[in-house]
Amino acid sequence: MTDLARRAAWWQRGIVYQVYPRSFQDTNGDGVGDLEGIRRRLDYLAWLGVDAVWISPVFPSPMADFGYDVADYCGIDPLFGTLADFDALLKDAHARGLKVILDFVPNHTSDRHPWFIDSRSARTSARRDWYIWRDGRDGKSGPLPPNNWLSHFGGPAWTFDEASGQYYLHSFLRAQPDLNWRNPHVRAAMHDVLRFWLERGVDGFRVDVIWLLIKDEALRDNPPNPAWQPSQPEIARNLQVHNADRPEVHEVIAEMRAVLDRYAERVLIGEIYLPLARLVTYYGENLGGAHLPFNFQLLETAWRAPAIARLVQDYEQALPPGGWPNWVLGNHDRPRIAARVGAEQARVAAMLLLTLRGTPTMYYGDEIGLAQVAIPPEAVQDPWEKNEPGLGLGRDPVRTPMQWDAGAQAGFTDGARPWLPLAAHHRDCNVAALQDDPRTILSLYRALIDLRRRRSALSIGDFRLVGATESVLVYERALGDERLAVALNFGAEPQPLPDAVAGLQVLLSTRLDRAEALDKPLLRPHEGLVLGPRLA
Ligand code: GLC
Ligand code: CA
Repeated sequence: MTDLARRAAWWQRGIVYQVYPRSFQDTNGDGVGDLEGIRRRLDYLAWLGVDAVWISPVFPSPMADFGYDVADYCGIDPLFGTLADFDALLKDAHARGLKVILDFVPNHTSDRHPWFIDSRSARTSARRDWYIWRDGRDGKSGPLPPNNWLSHFGGPAWTFDEASGQYYLHSFLRAQPDLNWRNPHVRAAMHDVLRFWLERGVDGFRVDVIWLLIKDEALRDNPPNPAWQPSQPEIARNLQVHNADRPEVHEVIAEMRAVLDRYAERVLIGEIYLPLARLVTYYGENLGGAHLPFNFQLLETAWRAPAIARLVQDYEQALPPGGWPNWVLGNHDRPRIAARVGAEQARVAAMLLLTLRGTPTMYYGDEIGLAQVAIPPEAVQDPWEKNEPGLGLGRDPVRTPMQWDAGAQAGFTDGARPWLPLAAHHRDCNVAALQDDPRTILSLYRALIDLRRRRSALSIGDFRLVGATESVLVYERALGDERLAVALNFGAEPQPLPDAVAGLQVLLSTRLDRAEALDKPLLRPHEGLVLGPRLA
């Protein structure tokens, strides 16, 4: 073992798997997934080979934004179970060597959180300043919002409270008032929340919209965005200058990190949608910020070899010394990879995700090739779709139930109806159907994960770009004496490979059908290969 291998933390070497708990496994027939469901599926996750499960919010919530509106940070919503269920899940996960990462939602609470109820009750409330309250500006026919900020889900980011005569800020729904992170009592209360879960044994947090936590002190208007199109969400009318990515946010993150650092081996992941140069500042001064500022660039980059080659190099170059990279292909807010690039390229995407340098985060269902599910208007759940209909912003299509078997409801629920519809092809596209066939995408994911685990060059080795043509990307991963190459064909034509890989042995093809030495190096259409030294 090299020094690097010895020193690598679990969250560097490992693979994170995101579970959207409403949609993973229902155990009481109400059509909504629950903690007991996740617990019963731990053997599946262990079989798949991932290292950590990140669970989207399961705290008591009115569910205006499906749990991202938290009414009590230290409990479990009855819909998902009880604290005892959570402890049982944690214990069973740990028994299988799986880490558990919770979703921490610090930017806003629910409007039903006792803190907000108190804050709203009177201007003189001791918690008034825990949220962001301001007088309106005078307008001809009554008060106007304090500034021009818009909600991420459409409409103004301010709501007028008749009773106390002021506006409160909400970056998302009006049922999600923003906390005032300039207030030291808010910080202290939220640090207590982190410790509550750390003491219970959770292995880390994915922190929701971490780059939005601090707002401009003077609440200046945002400048207009000259490039805005009506097909875009309303919030994009303005450039997010004064309400996001403020310099003071790094102090807030460093404080959170200091809370985690009192415990061994915990991870801090930040949700950050920013360009690369800004994103990497979230590692913090002397790497005292987020361990993993989520890198969403693959979600936005054109699915072509030259664009991805450039992205990987730009990212590698932008990283601060010692900053550990990470890659994400999908999540509960963004288009499914199989829908975006198609079923054949979804395999190439899997190989890319699991062979790049950096911690991969998988999104539940991607491993069975789950695509987006069309949601009929009467079945829409997502408040964003309801607020800004018809623009394709709704997130329901990427949050549909996991498909486990060929049963009536794909093994997701015994109840009559899952909360969102299943994919039409669920009788073929499910874990049971794909698990035993060695050529399926699920088998590919498992083989890639297994290879990554056995070959440290893949998990923690260096990265070197070998080259990119119009449709082929080739790179190398190396650790000590171990040197592997990855070649990916982003197109539908066969493609020659550079001489550099001639004579290498195929360790894994995305088609799972060959393991020979590459005498005439050729990639088949939509094929990806991991290559290693020829076996004796
Ligand atoms: C994050 C979550 C998203 C949620 C929003 C507000 O972006 O991923 O699902 O709606 O924050 O909490
Ligand atoms: Ca349930």
